[in-house]
Amino acid sequence: EKGGYDHFMIKEIFEQSKSIGDSMRGRLNAEAGHLQLGGLNQYLDRLVAAERIVIVGCGTSWHAGLVAEYLFEELARINVEVEYASEFRYRNPVIGKNDIVIAISQSGETADTLAAIELAKSKGATIFGVCNVVGSSIARATDAGAYTHAGPEIGVASTKAFTAQVTVLTLIAIATAKRKGTISEETYIQLLNELENIPEKVEQVFENAQKIKEIAFIFTYARNFIYLGRGLNFPVALEGALKLKEISYIHAEGYPAAEMKHGPIALIDEDMPVVFLATKDSSYEKIVSNIQEVKARKGRVIAIVTEGDSLIPPMVDFVIEVPKTHEILTPLVSVIPLQLLSYYIAVMRGRNVDQPRNLAKSVTVE
Ligand code: F6R
Repeated sequence: EKGGYDHFMIKEIFEQSKSIGDSMRGRLNAEAGHLQLGGLNQYLDRLVAAERIVIVGCGTSWHAGLVAEYLFEELARINVEVEYASEFRYRNPVIGKNDIVIAISQSGETADTLAAIELAKSKGATIFGVCNVVGSSIARATDAGAYTHAGPEIGVASTKAFTAQVTVLTLIAIATAKRKGTISEETYIQLLNELENIPEKVEQVFENAQKIKEIAFIFTYARNFIYLGRGLNFPVALEGALKLKEISYIHAEGYPAAEMKHGPIALIDEDMPVVFLATKDSSYEKIVSNIQEVKARKGRVIAIVTEGDSLIPPMVDFVIEVPKTHEILTPLVSVIPLQLLSYYIAVMRGRNVDQPRNLAKSVTVE
């Protein structure tokens, strides 16, 4: 069942070129300019009319929500708030019948997310679900939804479920933007084409596995890690840090790179590995300055860069290349090296990768 791999987690990481394709199957056809999510048909007009979307989730699913915030704002010009389900449900949130809630959950059984849905529902909001497990409690509690179709995820640390969530949320954002007229026909077609190319690009990232393993070997006994990114890569930084914490038990923090100077930069010295998400996008130049700030303080930098980048490699200690894609789709490729890095470090430390201590695959307690 592990298909020859040592762990489910690594099997699931390598499955992503396929699972991302599965989450688009039957929904997207770039050549025909076709994009349709069956479960959302009746509700698309509501999304188009929405003044606000509230996204709820926990852990990795919350990170997918943060990516979606950028997508809906950028493409569909809709105001988005992303909430930890556990915080949302215990506040007295301002929510009502004009609001759309998107609940994200791999298992579809997370107690806090389910409770957040029930609360929003009781106030009259419309609830969409983005779940992986078919027929799960959350899927049943929502008004409509789109399954991620990532297939069963066994490793406790979420990997292919995350990229499937991001894929489906991207499809929803693009469909909404198209209907709303906030993206041009040209951008629409370009995005659909780029989406179809993602599985192949993810496959290309896997070619770096050996190199990532070597980097993991060097940092196996690091005690701390910082992950930095901007824009769409900020949630990816959070996700990279979470993966490392969960399976290797190394303390790691993700930050928006610009926040460094407001505190975390005090942590930087020659013992601090800093992973930069430094792909060529609209925040590239800013990230380059952030890298310089860290290098000036002797931090050890591992940079995730776009293929062919020649500016960053001489500045940093290690680089991992990812293929270029449309900026909007960057997280789908930039998260992969971080999953691999945490996996190899955890294995080298002898951790129980698939079943890390203190964690359960679905958190059905509050
Ligand atoms: C991260 C992880 C957890 C889950 C979180 C939400 O690797 O596994 O943080 O993402 O417990 O779970 P779901 O998505 O099932 O609601």
